[in-house]
This record gives sequence, structure tokens and C-alpha cells, in this order.
Amino acid sequence: MADVSDLIQLGSRNDRPKRPAPDQLELKFSDEAVKQLDALRTHYPTEKACILPGLWIAQREYDGTLTPEAIAETAHRLNRSYAEVEGVATFYSMYNTGHKVGKHMIEVCTCLSCHMCGAYRIGDHLKEKLGIEFGETTEDGLFTLHEVECLDACDRAPLLQVGDEYIGPVTPDDCDKLIAALKDRPDSSVVKLADEIVKVHLKADEK
Ligand code: FES
Repeated sequence: MADVSDLIQLGSRNDRPKRPAPDQLELKFSDEAVKQLDALRTHYPTEKACILPGLWIAQREYDGTLTPEAIAETAHRLNRSYAEVEGVATFYSMYNTGHKVGKHMIEVCTCLSCHMCGAYRIGDHLKEKLGIEFGETTEDGLFTLHEVECLDACDRAPLLQVGDEYIGPVTPDDCDKLIAALKDRPDSSVVKLADEIVKVHLKADEK
């Protein structure tokens, strides 16, 4: 049975990213992002309810990762506490908290249908090609690899998600071609996904 001091150690999260001091916070949202946040604020009865779309703007503005600074800026702009916004950001897996993610995130569905159609073989192939495990980023900062639950397109198993695109069914050869194509792509698929989601939130106002 674990000693109490072990439990305290387990719960201490010493590796948790540090919140920036409020007086050292540099605001980085572009003018366009500030306008978008103002527009989104009008969709909701409270600023608290605007945290989710606000975090998508932050994820785009901070190059795909919700750093402590990105969370602090979102909290500042929505008049919420850092702890509250951090709690939301770390609860949902589509927000990238923790280590800086790569320019492209390859997500491998390993849920039942994809599993039956060889998802782990695809995952192993990608791990070998990229030299990383699930949850890691290549040293050149180009790729992050993640294992995810059902993406709701089981008829395309085994399925990958890259940014706002679903790709499947895929073979190991397709994965090689995908990696080569992504290396040549100038824009970040992680940032593009965040931008597309912000646009969907903004369009909800037009109905
Ligand atoms: S099991 Fe992979 S998309 Fe549903």
C-alpha cells in the first residue's frame, strides 16, 4: 500500500506548467482575434459560457498549443480566473495543453471498428516512421502522434484525422505518402483546425 508521502508526491504535479505572473502577461491576440472574441461574447449570456470558443481562438493565436500564457490571456479577456479556464482547457482532449504540439497532429483512431481493420498496425507504422510514441512530438517540431477514440466515421476504418481532415481507410503506404505531403505543406494543420472551429462558432450567429 502506498505511503502517504507517496500519495502527496503523486498528487503534487510538479511538472504542471506554471501560470505566468499577472503583471508579466503579454497579450498576443491579433486585432482580428479580439474582434472575434467580442462577437462570440454576444452569443452567450455570460463570459463564463464563452470559455470554450475563447480557448479555440487562443489555440489558433498561440500556434496550436494552449500554453500557460494562452490560458492566462483567455482568462484575462473573459474576466475569469486562471484556474477556471485552465480547468476547462485540461478537461477536453481537443485542447492542446502540456507540451508544445507539432505543426501537424496525426490522430489514429484505435476504437473497435478501426482496431478490427488494423489501426494498431497503422499506429506502429507511424511510430516507426516518425520515431516517436503516441503522445509525443518529433524533434523537428513537425509531427505529433496521438491515439484517439472513435471519430464517428467507422465506415472509413482504419481512420486518421489530420487537422480538419479525415483520411481513411489508410494503408501503411498511404501513411508514408501523407507524411511526405505534410512535410511540404506550408500551413499548420493544427492551427487550421482551430481556425475552422472558430469560424463555425462565429457562423452560429448568422442563423
Ligand atoms: S472506430 Fe474508428 S472511426 Fe469509429
